[in-house]
Amino acid sequence: MKIGIKGRLITVVLCLSFAAVASIGTASYKFSTSNAVDVAKEKGDIIFNYIMAQRDFFRLEQRSLAMEIVEHDRFYPTLMSGFVVTRSTWDRFKENLPGYMFKQATIDPLFPANKADEDELNIISEFKASESTKRLEGIINKKGEDFYYIATPIKITKKGCLRCHGNPAKAPKDQIEIYGTEHGYNWKMGDTVATFIVYVSLDKAVAKARKTSMILVSIAAGIILVLVIFIWVFINFVVVNPILKLSTRAEQVSLGRNLKETISHRTDDEIGHLASAINRLRISLLKILQRVEKK
Ligand code: HEC
Repeated sequence: MKIGIKGRLITVVLCLSFAAVASIGTASYKFSTSNAVDVAKEKGDIIFNYIMAQRDFFRLEQRSLAMEIVEHDRFYPTLMSGFVVTRSTWDRFKENLPGYMFKQATIDPLFPANKADEDELNIISEFKASESTKRLEGIINKKGEDFYYIATPIKITKKGCLRCHGNPAKAPKDQIEIYGTEHGYNWKMGDTVATFIVYVSLDKAVAKARKTSMILVSIAAGIILVLVIFIWVFINFVVVNPILKLSTRAEQVSLGRNLKETISHRTDDEIGHLASAINRLRISLLKILQRVEKK
């Protein structure tokens, strides 16, 4: 059977609606995802700023005081190393807030957990390659999970650093007792040895963005379904059925049957006009036939 008016109209409505829903879904997903990235970046900035503030306070205010109090040849990392204080504070921070990571990622660290992984080694290499780069950030995938990261370089700019990270034979004995002499030594002046890096997980936010778009698409699909059913019923009632009825009557008139029954339509629209035209045709035919019969 040929496709009728109704079929054609519904095909057009379906195609347009499908295109509209697909664009709404894609746009909403893109918008929510980029929003999620912006939020992650903001969170990363806050965390990073707080860590640095806490670190600077320790470095500039507390450490010198600790140095004065402690016996000259002793070194208590918990009390005197900014890196230990920062790492230990972070360990407590993350207990209640998973989804964030912070690391003092180092090529060759004293403390094994500070060891840079492959991605972090690449970031350190980028800092080494471009001395003027003071910050790198972006999206990174770690073990299947997406994160927004913010990183800054750690460079050996003071000779004092090498007292503990230079020749192990000259390092504080307390440090050697805790960390040994194998890793974290023989660093060179001017070297970029590590990076402070913060990671904010994107997966939850992106999953939420996906869910929002799915809900939006489902609602739009539901509206379209109702619309298509409405169009189906409306076209049947207002156009298709009246035309079928009129075409049956027109066919009867053309065969000279049922000529006495008036042809009418309840509405005064295009179909109503067609019905009146066919009706006039019926009356004319009837008159002609009556005249012929009289002769
Ligand atoms: C008095 C000793 C001492 C001095 C001076 C010192 N550090 Fe450290 N540093 C340590 C110790 C101990 C750790 C181990 C931190 C931990 O347990 O997480 C450490 C850790 C680090 C780390 C993290 C990687 C690792 O080795 O575990 C970096 C990076 C670092 N120091 C850089 C520096 C820089 C740069 C300076 C100079 C501005 C410096 N350090 C000065 C003792 C020192």
